[in-house]
Amino acid sequence: MPRIDRLQILRNDETRDGWARFTPHRERVTALLEEVATGTDGTLCVLGAGNCNDLALAQLVQRYRRIDLVDLDENALRSGLAKQNPPPGRLEICSGTDVTGVTHIMSEWMPELPASDEQVDRCIAAASALKTSFRPNSYSVAASVCLLSQLVESITLTLGENHPRFVELMTCIRREHLRRLASLTAPGGSVVLIVDVVSSQTLPQLAAVSLTKLPALLSRAISNRNFFSGMNPFVIKRLLETDEILATNLTGVRLSNPWVWDLGPRRYAVCALTAKRM
Ligand SMILES: C[S@@+](CC[C@H](N)C(=O)[O-])C[C@H]1O[C@@H](n2cnc3c(N)ncnc32)[C@H](O)[C@@H]1O
Repeated sequence: MPRIDRLQILRNDETRDGWARFTPHRERVTALLEEVATGTDGTLCVLGAGNCNDLALAQLVQRYRRIDLVDLDENALRSGLAKQNPPPGRLEICSGTDVTGVTHIMSEWMPELPASDEQVDRCIAAASALKTSFRPNSYSVAASVCLLSQLVESITLTLGENHPRFVELMTCIRREHLRRLASLTAPGGSVVLIVDVVSSQTLPQLAAVSLTKLPALLSRAISNRNFFSGMNPFVIKRLLETDEILATNLTGVRLSNPWVWDLGPRRYAVCALTAKRM
């Protein structure tokens, strides 16, 4: 199994019992997914569902006829489902799915042993060529839940942030993830991207900030360039609005106010970007 996949699985093992701690975050994510549901007959695809601690599945099955949960960690998905025990028949597990298609390539690299230009070229070509294997243009809502930061972190841990082609690979993986979300969604449907922007490790005020003061705190952090690589929500919003493929497929891009996600050892400032598929 690729090194990156193993790492993600280890992380999921560590946060599996986070159900209670995740409550305010889960309420925000679930409310958002309920809000964008059209009627009660739609379909939802969630990328990065993992332990499903951020999804109140019993509530969501009231709003979606079918929900596909996607992650590379099968055990997390299965135990997440077993814990919530939602009514059978409406949920499908799509496990073992690497949404980038390239973790096996990146896992061969270490920042200390720089990847060659040919290796990076091969990775970019494979990431850009990946065709989604499950139901393109079909979901009423396609969501990505705090997954994008993990995809970018995978590059940090393999290629390394100091590699001359880090930014190029990061922007490729980020752009392809956004395009994939759009391509999963049926015309008239919605794309939901939940992004964790910065953690209390570099923004300790997140430990005690009130919800009313959080937007200003996060704006200051972003102005000071204190956010995870590639996770500036304003840049992501602009990308959704201007990328040649995204701009012709999406409209009404909105950025929510932030909230705090308590993961135990750290807290994260999180916000949501939503858009309509044309
Ligand atoms: C921070 S977690 C999201 C929170 C999760 N929904 C929960 O409730 O615990 C990110 C998820 O993305 C998954 N993931 C990371 N890289 C992935 C990839 N390349 N393809 C598919 N899933 C990936 C991880 O396995 C993990 O479950």
